[in-house]
Amino acid sequence: MSTWPKHRLLCLSTCAILVLGSLPLARAQLNEKQLIAHRGASAYAPEHTLAAYRLAIEQGADYVEQDLGVTRDGVLVCLHDDSLERTTNVRDIFPGRFVEEQINGRMRQRWRVRDLTLSEVKQLDAGSWFGVEFVGAQVPTWQEAIDLIRGDAGLFPELKAPAEYEALGIDMPGLVIDTLRRNGLETAGPNTDTPVILQSFDEASLRRLADELPTLPRVFLFGSQRPRITDARLKEIATFATGIGPAKAIVNAQPDLVTRAHALGLTVTPYTFRSIETGRFDNVQEEMRHFLFTLGVDALFTDNPDRFPRQP
Ligand code: G3P
Ligand code: CA
Repeated sequence: MSTWPKHRLLCLSTCAILVLGSLPLARAQLNEKQLIAHRGASAYAPEHTLAAYRLAIEQGADYVEQDLGVTRDGVLVCLHDDSLERTTNVRDIFPGRFVEEQINGRMRQRWRVRDLTLSEVKQLDAGSWFGVEFVGAQVPTWQEAIDLIRGDAGLFPELKAPAEYEALGIDMPGLVIDTLRRNGLETAGPNTDTPVILQSFDEASLRRLADELPTLPRVFLFGSQRPRITDARLKEIATFATGIGPAKAIVNAQPDLVTRAHALGLTVTPYTFRSIETGRFDNVQEEMRHFLFTLGVDALFTDNPDRFPRQP
């Protein structure tokens, strides 16, 4: 059985008291299924900008996702890719600051975030690629994201490529832990006004977070290249994570994964639901409804928070 449904049953029984009473309630506490805004409301605003996070809150997100990278001077910033050229004008602002890397057999110029200082990253325009109304949007630090979101929604940070940073002597899990502690969020479980759920594809990082921040939920991500997830593997995952975050194709291919994970107390949070990629479904709302209420997942990542169905 999932841990979230149990918690929500408790919430429902105390909800009236709390609404009338004194404690602020996070949206995540009130809702049966959890809406995670993927990179913010990224269908409508440039991903990982404050504009996208603000819109996600307006559209009712329970949690706002941040993918995390680290600048040359050791600051956590919100960025999906490990380089800046897809979502900023870094080519124009720092034309010589690329490295050449071979990707899929082709040499490519890449402006890695780890090679620029925060001051340099802040000179970039992270909005104009998406639309003229977003010109001037910046790459936010994680601290700026926390300041914007806290009290209005939960935080769902992903540690991106921590092993690559470790090879450079950068302790990404340590930076995340320090930031949470500095903000008083190191025990911000589901009963707080800014709940935090940690996520990563990197097992070693989640194991460390389990040791150092044992009360925070932790979601282990995996992609569709994974073979069938066995019960033995789920049992192993349950020793360091509180939930799984499979690519939605995995859940489509093995829908019994949901009940098998729930049987071990693991939540299930598939990714990514977007209006431009709905597979056999007519629209993204129907696709999300199927996953939430037919397959029984607890939460999901979507670029379209406004299309999230709250009811079956
Ligand atoms: O973190 C869940 C999902 O966002 C993983 O995919 O590549 O969008 O970070 P990605
Ligand atoms: Ca992510």
